[in-house]
Amino acid sequence: MDNAKEFGAQSTAEEVTAGIDLSGQTWLITGCNSGLGYETARVLALRGARIVGLARTREKAADALAKLGIDGVPVACELSDLGSVRQAVREVREIGPLDGIIANAGIMALPQLEQVHGYERQFFTNHMGHFVLVTGLLDRLTATGRVVMLSSGAHHFASRGLELDNLTGEDDYDAWRMYGRSKLANILFARSLTARFAGTSRTANAVHPGVIETNLGRHVPDREAMYERLKPRMKTVEQGAATQCYVAVRPELAGTSGQYYSDCKVAKTIPAAQDRILAEALWESSEAIAAEL
Ligand SMILES: NC(=O)c1ccc[n+]([C@@H]2O[C@H](COP(=O)([O-])OP(=O)(O)OC[C@H]3O[C@@H](n4cnc5c(N)ncnc54)[C@H](OP(=O)(O)O)[C@@H]3O)[C@@H](O)[C@H]2O)c1
Repeated sequence: MDNAKEFGAQSTAEEVTAGIDLSGQTWLITGCNSGLGYETARVLALRGARIVGLARTREKAADALAKLGIDGVPVACELSDLGSVRQAVREVREIGPLDGIIANAGIMALPQLEQVHGYERQFFTNHMGHFVLVTGLLDRLTATGRVVMLSSGAHHFASRGLELDNLTGEDDYDAWRMYGRSKLANILFARSLTARFAGTSRTANAVHPGVIETNLGRHVPDREAMYERLKPRMKTVEQGAATQCYVAVRPELAGTSGQYYSDCKVAKTIPAAQDRILAEALWESSEAIAAEL
């Protein structure tokens, strides 16, 4: 394997995993039925991994794995329903040790305020659902297990930070600021996991996959205009899945934790994403929310 090889924006998931043998490994991927999660499942399976594929329903997950023709275990996990997430945790715990979790599923830019149990839906789905899923599975990670959180460059839109006093989203709701807040939470969650993994060989990192035309844009009213505007720097789905696959399985990243990657390289975040106290405050709030629901 050529460890010195440089990867970047043009690299595909197949390229960054070339030569890596994942046989005997088990990888959990949320949102396995669409976009980047589907491509990630395809490529990790191509390298020999068994895929635990999560989607809103078992049927969606099973259809995706069947369409890909891969060896996998389909599991229902509706991230906005903690009952469903907890059921998924119970099922996954029975499957065996996990070499990694790719928290990939997400929703973006809901035009109107929507709430789940009184919490803003993007925060709840993108962060809370994954918080309960991942924390419920931490002791199922292998000694070198890796957690990869799908964040976004859009975390820069979190102009008011995490807004822990506005988890309802009712204070001046803005579709992109609230999406950005949820993606900031994804980075902070990876930081908190890193603190909890101290002294072990487990790691947690966050990634920005790039800009890729997928179903993620479905709630954006001027979706076509947005993609037209972003065209010069858009990636294909094959390229878009590269950074998460890179962070998940490259051997040279063993021991690297608490970082934020874009184009297969460590990238800059907003200062709030580096704030350990904020990360702990988010963890505490998330535990409190999970305990109440
Ligand atoms: N595409 C981009 O340009 C871009 C840029 C930056 C970051 N990202 C991040 O990359 C990740 C993957 O996005 P994508 O582009 O692949 O989007 P996508 O094609 O829309 O896929 C998103 C996946 O998340 C699932 N999902 C949504 N809500 C869910 C819920 N409540 N419970 C369980 N699963 C749910 C979707 O399931 P259904 O199909 O059933 O809805 C789908 O499988 C997201 O976290 C996104 O924020 C993407």
